[in-house]
Amino acid sequence: MLIHSASILLPNGDFFLGDVLLQGDKIVEINSQINSDDSTIIDATGLTLLPGVFDPQVHFREPGLEYKEDLFTASCACAAGGVTSFLEMPNTRPLTTTQAALDDKLQRAASKCLVNYGFFMGATAENLPDLIEANPTCGIKIFMGSSHGALLVSLEEELEPIFARGSRLIAVHAEDQPRIIQRRKEFAGITTPSIHSQIQDETAALNATKLALKLSKKYQRRLHILHLSTGIEAEFLRQDKPSWVTTEVTPQHLLLNIEAYEEIGTLAQMNPPLRSPENNEILWRALLDGVIDFIATDHAPHTLEEKAKGYPKSPSGMPGVETSLPLMLTEAKKGRCSVAQVANWMSTAPAKAYGVRNKGAIAPGFDADLVLVDLNNYRPVSRDRLFTKCGWSPFEGWNLTGWPVYTIVGGQVAFEKGRLNTNVTGKALIFE
Ligand code: DOR
Repeated sequence: MLIHSASILLPNGDFFLGDVLLQGDKIVEINSQINSDDSTIIDATGLTLLPGVFDPQVHFREPGLEYKEDLFTASCACAAGGVTSFLEMPNTRPLTTTQAALDDKLQRAASKCLVNYGFFMGATAENLPDLIEANPTCGIKIFMGSSHGALLVSLEEELEPIFARGSRLIAVHAEDQPRIIQRRKEFAGITTPSIHSQIQDETAALNATKLALKLSKKYQRRLHILHLSTGIEAEFLRQDKPSWVTTEVTPQHLLLNIEAYEEIGTLAQMNPPLRSPENNEILWRALLDGVIDFIATDHAPHTLEEKAKGYPKSPSGMPGVETSLPLMLTEAKKGRCSVAQVANWMSTAPAKAYGVRNKGAIAPGFDADLVLVDLNNYRPVSRDRLFTKCGWSPFEGWNLTGWPVYTIVGGQVAFEKGRLNTNVTGKALIFE
């Protein structure tokens, strides 16, 4: 396949107007003009070629919660959003806490995912042997708070053995569960959705982040802090972030805040919750200066019926894989960051952090996971163009640029001008 006349983002951050030749699932050549008579040609005039998005935190609901989303619909949403690889979380049913549950997910994904996939193992207070042995997995997910059944490890004495034994990456959902339980009692009976941000407050997030960092330092254990939501955590990490610790932020925590409850009610409810506008600013600063390493969507679809139950019965979470890249590219167009930074945060840096080789850059020898975006036109986020089964977005009506025109997975076109090619299949990611 020949991608002709694209504005190509090179690994050094420069743009180069030219052609990219793919052979099988690899990028083989980048040049100002490549002649290849026997290639399928994509005319990319006016489009920008970026490495495919690597989304390192999603909840895709299969098995067990397929009425919200499944691996097929979620991977269609990925392809439409330029996401060519994802790492999925263990709070499915059954929970992904055993090798058998991990194998089952891998098998399901192999038969129905349009994009590349990897899965986390979930920690319970009892499954340490499973965590140590599991393979292949991108890491161990610990819900320190905001639990899902047995997926809760909140006390230091339960956490310590997990940090002490084994060597693979530990990714934490850092919220202080005992504090949340206490505050739920204090605020009981209040049903305005914005109370969610007060119950699961900034201190709850900071306490858990501090505890995870303390254990990571004690055992020099690779730690990733998921969806950082507060300025106080970012400032804390600015002072003390060992080289083996990474963190991420979601577009929601950068671009939405507690004002969103007024407009979209429980659709704005997620864990960790949205914060004040000041927190948006501090998180942006931390992302720009490297305290925050990359971006994840935390795609967490729930049905509109569930969200309509009203707080606190409404579940927490928002979809995100279809809107994350245009949201961030729109910020780049506004001048808040550069397109090269967006590609680093959404592809290069997460692929590197999870030890996935040959992804996240447009260079010979790298995998042909690519997205061609249109940075010249704008269109609003609208329900009728979404592929996620939940069928809504917290960003509906936002006028965005940088929408994917083509998404290429392993050298095959999975999404082209609004249409999916469901014959494309992704591959299991390999973690070093
Ligand atoms: O809001 C959230 N929803 N945060 C999480 O960490 C889990 C997720 C879900 O699975 O619904």
